[in-house]
Amino acid sequence: MADRTVYIETYGCQMNFADSEVVSSILSKAGYRLAPNAGEADFILINTCAIRDNAEQRIRKRVRELKAQQSRRPQLRIGILGCMAERLQSQLMVEEENVSFVAGPDSYRKLPAILDEVARGQKAAATELSTTETYADIEPVRLGANGISAYISIMRGCQNYCSYCVVPYTRGRERSRDPETIVAEATKLYESGYKEVTLLGQNVNSYNANGFTFAQLMAKVAAVSPQLRVRFATSHPKDLGDDLIQTMASHPNICRCIHLPVQSGSNRVLKLMNRHYTVEWYLDRIAAIRRAMPDCSITTDVIAGFCSETEEDHQLTLDLFRQVGYDYAYMFKYSMRPGTYAERHLSDDVPDDVKTRRLEEIIALQGQIALENNRREVGKEFEVLVEGPSHRSPAQHFGRNSQNKVLVFDRRDTQPGQYVQVRVTDCTAATLKGELIETNH
Ligand code: 5AD
Ligand code: SF4
Repeated sequence: MADRTVYIETYGCQMNFADSEVVSSILSKAGYRLAPNAGEADFILINTCAIRDNAEQRIRKRVRELKAQQSRRPQLRIGILGCMAERLQSQLMVEEENVSFVAGPDSYRKLPAILDEVARGQKAAATELSTTETYADIEPVRLGANGISAYISIMRGCQNYCSYCVVPYTRGRERSRDPETIVAEATKLYESGYKEVTLLGQNVNSYNANGFTFAQLMAKVAAVSPQLRVRFATSHPKDLGDDLIQTMASHPNICRCIHLPVQSGSNRVLKLMNRHYTVEWYLDRIAAIRRAMPDCSITTDVIAGFCSETEEDHQLTLDLFRQVGYDYAYMFKYSMRPGTYAERHLSDDVPDDVKTRRLEEIIALQGQIALENNRREVGKEFEVLVEGPSHRSPAQHFGRNSQNKVLVFDRRDTQPGQYVQVRVTDCTAATLKGELIETNH
């Protein structure tokens, strides 16, 4: 097995990117070299997403594309990791016959053994879910590698069973990682120069390590250093408690940004979605956040055209968007997922063109709202963590403020990883433009 190389391609959510860093660590420890690109690798591992059908179709297309490389390099083996592997199991290797192995999210420790088998010409599948695996002892290889910002996975799995969602089936039961290992990872990152960590879980508010809560964990991680920014994703509105809001408010280095997926503005639809909150509850949580932190940005996820959604339900979603005034939203068309409650008991009865039109209306409204919100920022000053050169011009740097908004400014002597003060002078719906006022540290 001298000098075998692997290349990992990652699709989907931040959790998948964090998992690919765990996989990289497991395979490097087992003696594999991480190839800089797919063209040089003996194994291409594709870490996949199953949340919507179009995510799966994109991955299948990529897998089929790789056939050309395989005919040039017959030793090349392809494996599927993550949610699609878990959902489809060995059936995926039947449907995509150039795939040699599948490994679900809780099977990554088995990868060295699996790759050995596959190198001997066998096929392999590992898709058992675990109730305890958190990969807590594995130090991820930082692939994002800007050296400034890193993900820390704090819990795995989800058992909320939102009726549209495949995640409880692909990622298994909720389990929380021991807080000491999380704080140790954050400390090590800070000591090696990182300035920002994002604590990740499917539903971070239900983090619970023998009674130790997410709010307590946030306070501990924030105490690593006032110079370390702490972010988190994702919160479920039903569990967003005042304790977390208070902890955020009392730690300036916990970023002023909450991602609070609403999914729909209609109580009838929310009930069908099994979300366990009402619009009134949701608005109360928004009010609580704004009372404690008036400058906190709020972002969301929404689904257009869920089963039985009427025009009136859709209007309620638009109303809610106007009322909350989100800074950013991830907006999706409902995609029926096999095995979910919605697939088994509800009817995917909103025609595709209606879904598309509703989605477009939400996108257009959200574009206006984001622009209005950004216009209100013009003239304000923000502390910005510099990330690097802007895409437009090497003479400009970009970074983010605590609210997670991107600011672009003329760079002068600023360096990535520095905190600087920037005054906003102009904006688009997506970006704030500003001028550098001072370099802090
Ligand atoms: N169809 C469309 N969007 C979905 N999401 C989850 N499941 C589906 C589905 N079946 C969205 C939700 C969730 C985000 C991660 O993806 O908005 O918050
Ligand atoms: Fe899916 Fe709901 Fe769990 Fe989020 S909370 S991962 S939407 S089941």
